[in-house]
Amino acid sequence: MAEIREVKKVERRASIHSHIKGLGLDEKGKAKLVADGLVGQVQAREAAGIVVELVRKGKMSGRGILFVGPSGTGKTALAFAIAKELGEDTPFSAINASEIYSTEVKKTEVLTQAVRKSIGIRVRQKRQVYEGVVKDVKVKIARSRANPMAVVPREAELTLATKDEQKTIQVGDLVASQLYKYNVKKGDVIWIDAETGDVVKTGRAKGVEGVKYYDIESTKYVEVPSGPVKKEKEIVNTLTLSDIDLNLAAQNIGFGILSSLFGGEVNQDVRQQTDKLVSKMLKENSAELVPGVLFIDDAHMLDVEAFSFLTKALEAELSPILILATNRGITKIRGTDVESPHGIPIDLLDRLLIIPTRPYDQEEIREILKIRAEELDVELTQESIEELTNLGTSTSLRYISELLEPLQVIAERSGRSAITPEDIKEAVKLFADVRTSTKFAKEYESLLLK
Ligand SMILES: Nc1ncnc2c1ncn2[C@@H]1O[C@H](COP(=O)(O)OP(=O)(O)OP(=O)(O)O)[C@@H](O)[C@H]1O
Ligand SMILES: [Mg+2]
Repeated sequence: MAEIREVKKVERRASIHSHIKGLGLDEKGKAKLVADGLVGQVQAREAAGIVVELVRKGKMSGRGILFVGPSGTGKTALAFAIAKELGEDTPFSAINASEIYSTEVKKTEVLTQAVRKSIGIRVRQKRQVYEGVVKDVKVKIARSRANPMAVVPREAELTLATKDEQKTIQVGDLVASQLYKYNVKKGDVIWIDAETGDVVKTGRAKGVEGVKYYDIESTKYVEVPSGPVKKEKEIVNTLTLSDIDLNLAAQNIGFGILSSLFGGEVNQDVRQQTDKLVSKMLKENSAELVPGVLFIDDAHMLDVEAFSFLTKALEAELSPILILATNRGITKIRGTDVESPHGIPIDLLDRLLIIPTRPYDQEEIREILKIRAEELDVELTQESIEELTNLGTSTSLRYISELLEPLQVIAERSGRSAITPEDIKEAVKLFADVRTSTKFAKEYESLLLK
């Protein structure tokens, strides 16, 4: 019998942009020098702030932005900051231009899917729900019928209260398993869709009797709802066209089987069905359009076909907001012999607002370094901050950011928690920056594989 081992999920502690929480602007849209994890790059941040406002006002659809600047100047970081500012209700999908070259799926298919993930519609629905703060919850666990080794929630008794009423309800396994999964406990404010049984946790209520509160809790606090426990509630959902495509495809079993034969491509008929449905809902005012953002990083990697696809997509009735980023100057448009600024055809460039990002000075590098070190939980002495800042100025911000974790290993091996200048000397010997490695490659040219 095959051995089944439990695979431990690896939690990536910090990704390369995880320190960025937003654009760091004040109410007037002016950039604070250091805020939300961003340092300097003031003009680009303020420009990005204006873009966010236009997106929110629905004035950006069918238009685009291009971030242009040298490598490591924060173009990708700014695009992520824009996504954070827009919030979860605005669809934002990000791809790297190189992802369109897959052997299984056509380029235009990858782009079509990305575009459809970036266009949302907001649907308001009136639903019957049970809503209130949890006064008591008892989940009954039983052995699973399918797998006698496992236990599953079978049913639950739940007491919900509003400011005006208290009600105890019995729920079946569908709701019970969600209560269990979301760890719903006394003091949580939740609502349950009376028809579908979906459970949604909205937050925690303060001052509920018999509930233990901690000084630091990651959940947000909300008001206890008023009125009856069972009531009609308006629920707002933002779905992307791609969500609807997948839903329709799944409903239509025939399509489901066929589309799995086509290797990850969504059937065109399903898309037409979606578009019809959406335009009907928009006409009847039962839904509103939410133009989201499609971010394509390293846009110079797109080829001429991809560019004309995108230009056309911007002109369509349902179109996303396009954000591109590139670090190339004048270069050939991929797939042609034509040179163009940033490798992008002029007719598309004409529709884009360009936001330049500039190289950082020493002061800014020092601040970004400190933020990254804190995010990664890496301790630096005052001297090593200076040493790394100088190194960053002569090499690149990327290089010193990448060195932080190896440096921590080197320090720990010598039994220290903080990184010292000696550790930096050691790390520089072990890991080369781009310039050093190019020099090395030239020196040993004849020995390296071609
Ligand atoms: N202004 C800034 N404030 C804080 N962190 C920054 C800032 N600019 C860049 N960073 C961080 O520095 C690193 C490099 O930036 P980023 O990846 O955004 O560069 P890029 O302009 O996209 O470069 P490339 O052209 O090579 O793709 C990332 O970890 C990023 O989060
Ligand atoms: Mg980038």
